[in-house]
Parts: sequence; structure tokens; C-alpha cells
Amino acid sequence: MSIEFHDVSFTYWQAEEPALQHITLEIPAGQFVAITGPTGAGKSTFLQMLNGLIPHHIPGRMEGEVLVNGVSTRELSVAQLSRQVGLVFEDPDSQIVSLTVEDDVAFGPSNLGWSAEEIRRHARQALEQTRLLGFEGRNPFTLSGGEKQSLAMAGILAMRPQVLALDEPTSMLDPIGRARIVSILKALAAETNTTILVVEQNPELIIELADRVLLFDGGRVIRDGTPQEVYSDVEALQQVGAKLPPMVETFWELRRRGLWQEALPFTVEQAVAALKPRIRSGYAQNSNTLSPPSADGAIVEVREVEHRYGDEVQALQSVSARFRRGETTAIVGQNGSGKSTLAFHLVGILQPTNPQGRVIVDGLDVRTTPLRELIRHINYVFQNPDDQLFQETAELEIEYGLKQLGIPADERRRRLEWALELFGLHDYAHNAPKSLRRGLRTRIAVASVVAMQPEVLVVDEPTTGLDRRESLEIMQTLQGLAESGTTIIFITHEMDLVAQFAQRVLVMHAGKILRQGAPTQIFADLPVLQQASLSQPDIYSLAAALGWGDLSALRTPADLAERIAQLM
Ligand SMILES: Nc1ncnc2c1ncn2[C@@H]1O[C@H](COP(=O)(O)OP(=O)(O)OP(=O)(O)O)[C@@H](O)[C@H]1O
Ligand SMILES: [Mg+2]
Repeated sequence: MSIEFHDVSFTYWQAEEPALQHITLEIPAGQFVAITGPTGAGKSTFLQMLNGLIPHHIPGRMEGEVLVNGVSTRELSVAQLSRQVGLVFEDPDSQIVSLTVEDDVAFGPSNLGWSAEEIRRHARQALEQTRLLGFEGRNPFTLSGGEKQSLAMAGILAMRPQVLALDEPTSMLDPIGRARIVSILKALAAETNTTILVVEQNPELIIELADRVLLFDGGRVIRDGTPQEVYSDVEALQQVGAKLPPMVETFWELRRRGLWQEALPFTVEQAVAALKPRIRSGYAQNSNTLSPPSADGAIVEVREVEHRYGDEVQALQSVSARFRRGETTAIVGQNGSGKSTLAFHLVGILQPTNPQGRVIVDGLDVRTTPLRELIRHINYVFQNPDDQLFQETAELEIEYGLKQLGIPADERRRRLEWALELFGLHDYAHNAPKSLRRGLRTRIAVASVVAMQPEVLVVDEPTTGLDRRESLEIMQTLQGLAESGTTIIFITHEMDLVAQFAQRVLVMHAGKILRQGAPTQIFADLPVLQQASLSQPDIYSLAAALGWGDLSALRTPADLAERIAQLM
């Protein structure tokens, strides 16, 4: 099915600025289009026009015309349109409609007039594609973050729509889950002529998948071309703060230093082929080594912790781990491997279900320490910020925890100011958190915990749903706290953030700790990466292909460029 936009603008009710301005473009049937650009650029608004949510349900003023298969969306109902256009939203919680996984996946297809057998077959296939076989009887609300996101995808795949519109569908998936979605989408585009539009921040996925990229900024399409064309336009991407493919970033840096005039490579293979004849083999040392942790005593100790949810799910199986004071640790692993469950135990939200399981924080037994006391030592920022934002304004949200700690008013004021400043939230202090965009909600959630100044800060997927600029800002703020002595434990599926910010990595698999070590050790261990559904960041793949042994201090594309420069 083709899609046409004819001079389309949209302004949300009561908004001052239009969210989309004068969009004119045509998408032929079967095209695979990636939509990228910073937060607030209009990407989600664009998708919501495809199935008629705009103009039929979402209040605001729409101008121009959107045609789906030649028919204006104004002339079709949302019910009619949603048979043709399957839309997967950013927030999977908002899409759960049933009390079991099985019913949830069957819900969409059951409205299409199919036979019971067809519904069952399509639902089963969608569960298989999204790694959810075996979860049929589970309550969707008890799924892990990534499992919920997979379920939202399954529900739409089962309907076999002719247009698929996906809003950051892999933001909570582990790298292998992402690769699976990529191959499913590729097959759909190639074999069934499905038109696919996907909002995506990850350039590696876009390059692998898309026929065409639309770069959005300020409600407009500022670049429209093949992935090669758009990702060669480094200045445009940098200007809007979009993430560059790591190889492009590396070679752009070399070009900036006057060392690279040829085309920029997009993939590791291209980079290796371009580099091999140009560099000496050998080994160069990076100057930028990371400061060692301030002390080596463990501040958090986990001993033989098991956790069972109900009768069936064994989420943790005898986990033991130590987190050193002042160190920044990343917890990584497949969806459902137990990362969030482990984090809940560190802060006493959950208790081990085996009697001998213990968590000791700063010498205190988490089982027996009152929460009020514990949160001075360790605190947690939820995977979904909306699970912890309840106050009417950002300011009240940040002050709430401080009041709970019994901190006197003038000190509260001081900490509030400090936290607002640290997270760039001054302009939003009096806004209702729920009305703000995801990046700001995340910042408020983190700020409200940081204001309590715990010695250990546990942050669960802090960059999900954020654009590149916001992600780096949050991570750099956490790094700043680490430098002033806070112990940071963060959970993430973004391997490049692990490489850049973690001093230690804890790899989880099926409720156990599979391996721990420095990022360089973990990312060199291909069997472990494979078993835990992780991927090797491109900078390490390139280093491995060039035969470099010691990868210490290789954390970013800039570090990689530095080393290559020394060998040229
Ligand atoms: N309340 C619950 N009831 C039953 N099972 C649960 C509950 N919460 C989590 N689980 C299950 O426990 C396992 C571990 O979940 P957890 O949320 O810790 O995973 P995770 O590693 O954080 O995953 P993700 O990367 O998707 O966030 C999963 O299989 C999940 O479905
Ligand atoms: Mg989780």
C-alpha cells in the first residue's frame, strides 16, 4: 500500500508550535522507510497520521491530506484504517489489552473476521518470532520491559497489516532481540510487499534495513535519501544531535585530522577493507586511560540470592556478586535474564525467596534494614520513569524523597536547586512530570533519586526512549557523580554506552551471572556475548579484525580514531 502526504501540518490542541509542518512526500508500496531525528521532531506524530489517530482521535488542527492506498485518512475510520496500518507505539504498557499473553496477541486478529484456526496460527507464529513461546499463560503486566515490548510487536505482526508503522520498536530489546526483529521486518518487506515505517535512533539498524531515511527536525523532513546518502551527511546529523554509525564517526574524526579523504565506511567490513592497505600493523597506546576506582572494598555484596515469582518463574538462581565502592558497573543480558529483578533486591524492593539469600549494602543487611534508613545508602531509578512519578510538579517530585528522609527545609531547598541544575531542569520545575516528554520524565526520575544523595545509585535502562543527545547527557551526569564518589550501577542494552561508561560489566543469563569483567574482556569474549544475546560494539569488531590484542582504554570511536591515526 502506498502512502502520500500532501502539504500536511499538525498542531496539537493548545500547543503553540506545530508538531509537523508542510510535509509532502510519497512512499511506494513495499518501501522500507526509517524515520530518525531528535526528540520532539515530530516522528511519532507522523506515524499517528497513518492509522487515522490524527485527525480522528487526537485533538488538534490538521491541514493537508494523508492518503493511504489513494484514500484520504479523513474519509476512513480508525477502525477501517487499523486493519491496513498496524501501529506499534513507543510505550508497550499502553498497548496491553488482555490478561494473558495468548489473549493479548489474539485480540487484534480476532477482529479481522478470520477463522479460529487462522487466528491461532498467526498468533502462534508472532509469538515465535518475538521469542515469546512459553509465555502464553502469563499476565502481560508481569513481563519484563523487553518482553512487554516484544508482546506489543507480536500483537501487530499477528494481524498481518499491509502497512507497519513502528515507533522505536526495539528500544528495550537486547541486541539479539533487535537482530531478530530486523530479520523479520526484512523478510516481510521482501516477501509480502509490506510497507514499513519505523522510527529508530540506531543507525546500524537503519543502514541494515532501510531503503530510505527521513531525518526529522523541528516538525520538518530535513533530509530524505538512502541510508548511505543521509549517513554521509555528517554535519546535518551532528547539527540535530543524531547518532552517527560508529565507523562513520571514527573516519569523520580521521578526516577532521586531515588523515582521511576517501569515502566514509559504514560497516566494519568496509572499514577494514579501506584501512588494511593504509596502516602499519602494530599496536598503539591510547593516552586516555580511565582512572581506577577510588577504593577496592565492596560496598554492595549479593550472596546466593534466589528469586521466584509465584510458582513458575525462577527469575534469579543463586546470584552472588560484589560491587566495589566508587566503581561504575553495567548490568547487561537478554530480556528476562533477571537484571531488573536483581536491581530490586539491591534496594530492598524485593527480598530473596531463599532463606540464605543476603544483600549487604554498606554493612547493612537489606532484609532487616528499614527502607527509610536504606535509601540513604542505596536507591533505584525505575526502568519506566512513569512508575515513580506521582507528584504534581517536578519540584515536588524531587522534594518528596527529601521530605521522606526528614531533611530540614533549607537543606532541602539547596539540594533541590542542585538537582535541578545538575539535570538541566530549571525550566520545568513547575511543570507536571506526566505532561513532559520521555527524556525530561527520565531526568526528573533520576534527579529525584540523586537529590537524596545515596552512596549507591542503581539506574534501570536510563536511556530508553531518549535521543542520542539526551542519552549522552544523562550518562555524562552519572559519570560526574561517579567521579565525585557515587557508586553507579546501570542496566542497559546499549553496548556502546557500556564500552564508553562502564568500568565493570556484569553479564546475566537466565537468572545467573554468566561473567563479570572489564568491558574490554567482556567484548572480546564472543561465546559469552552470543550466549547472553549481546553484540560486540563495532569499535571492538574493527580492532579485532585488525588483530589488535590489548584493547584497554578503547571506549569510543574517538579513541579508535586516535589509535588508527598513530598507525597511519
Ligand atoms: N511480577 C512478576 N511475576 C512473574 N514473573 C515475573 C514478574 N516480574 C518479572 N518476571 C519474570 O522474571 C524474569 C526476569 O525479569 P526481569 O524483569 O528481571 O528481566 P530483565 O533482565 O530486567 O529484562 P528486560 O531486559 O526485558 O528489562 C522474566 O522472565 C520475567 O518475565
Ligand atoms: Mg528490566
